[in-house]
Parts: sequence; structure tokens; C-alpha cells
Amino acid sequence: MDRTFVMVKPDGVQRGLIGEFISRFEAKGLKLVGAKLERLSKERVIEQYREHLEKPFFPGLASYIMSGPCFLMAWEGKDAVAVVRRMIGATNPAEAAPGSIRGDFALDIGRNVIHASDSPESAARELGIHFAPDELIDYSRIDESVLY
Ligand code: PPS
Repeated sequence: MDRTFVMVKPDGVQRGLIGEFISRFEAKGLKLVGAKLERLSKERVIEQYREHLEKPFFPGLASYIMSGPCFLMAWEGKDAVAVVRRMIGATNPAEAAPGSIRGDFALDIGRNVIHASDSPESAARELGIHFAPDELIDYSRIDESVLY
């Protein structure tokens, strides 16, 4: 089973969308194995987005991510990384398909409500940045025998 890192950004938290997003992932059959509400430090934002440090949008991205608490999650399931990326939709919400989270809940790339890891390697790296090993919980969903 894959694990992936998902983060509801401050606009998603402030708009009261955490529950809606969790419901979509749960209904899909993914399993929530870690979750916490946190304000990210500058150091953590730099680690999270280190490949974009030199991009012109980085200062705006950093102040957006630090503008309020983020809701950090770890989700597990078959092909979880790719499945969650499809569910959140294109990075630019203006181009995100209706039915995807960004397609349904966002308009502007600078306020795109949610982040998810883009590869299994990124997922492992990002989960390691935001969660201690004992914050990720192993358990069974009662419907696993039906889902898989
Ligand atoms: S790139 O240059 O193609 O590699 O960048 P991209 O993959 O499109 O985006 C990388 C992350 O930066 C966020 N981003 C922005 N944030 C704020 N303002 C602007 N203009 C902007 N452009 C890109 C984008 O949402 C990606 O973050 P995540 O958290 O993965 O969505």
C-alpha cells in the first residue's frame, strides 16, 4: 500500500473545508493514518518547497502557507499517491477539472486550497518532514476486504 502526504492549506482550513476533503478521501476508500493541525514554521515551508526556493512565486507561496494553520494528513491505499493527485486536480484551479477538489473549491493558483505529494519519493520525503514515525498509525478499515 502507498502512503501519501496531503495538506489542507490555510485558505481551506479558514473556509471550513477540512471535513469535506476528508470525506472525499474516505469515501474513495483511502485510509487516514495521520492527521494534525499546525502552523508551519518558515524552516518547514522551505523544506517542503525546497525545489521551488528560487522560483519567483516562492515568497508569495511561503507567506500564503504561513498565513494560518494547515491541516496535515497521511493517507494510505492502493496507488494512493496517484489517486490523490487526480482527486485534487490541476495545480492551477482555473484548469482543474470539475469534480476535482481544486476544480470544485478554488479559482486562483495562489489560493489552491490543498497540496498532495506528486510521486512516491516526494511522499516519503514530505511525510518525513511533517510526521514522526509514531504519529503514523497502523490499523484496519472494516471495509478493507470489500475494497481490495
Ligand atoms: S513549477 O514551476 O511548475 O515546478 O511549479 P508548480 O509545480 O506549478 O508549483 C509548485 C508549487 O508552487 C505553488 N505555486 C504557487 N503558489 C503561489 N502563487 C503562485 N503564483 C504559484 N505558482 C505555483 C503550486 O501550488 C505548487 O504547490 P503545491 O503545494 O504543490 O500546490
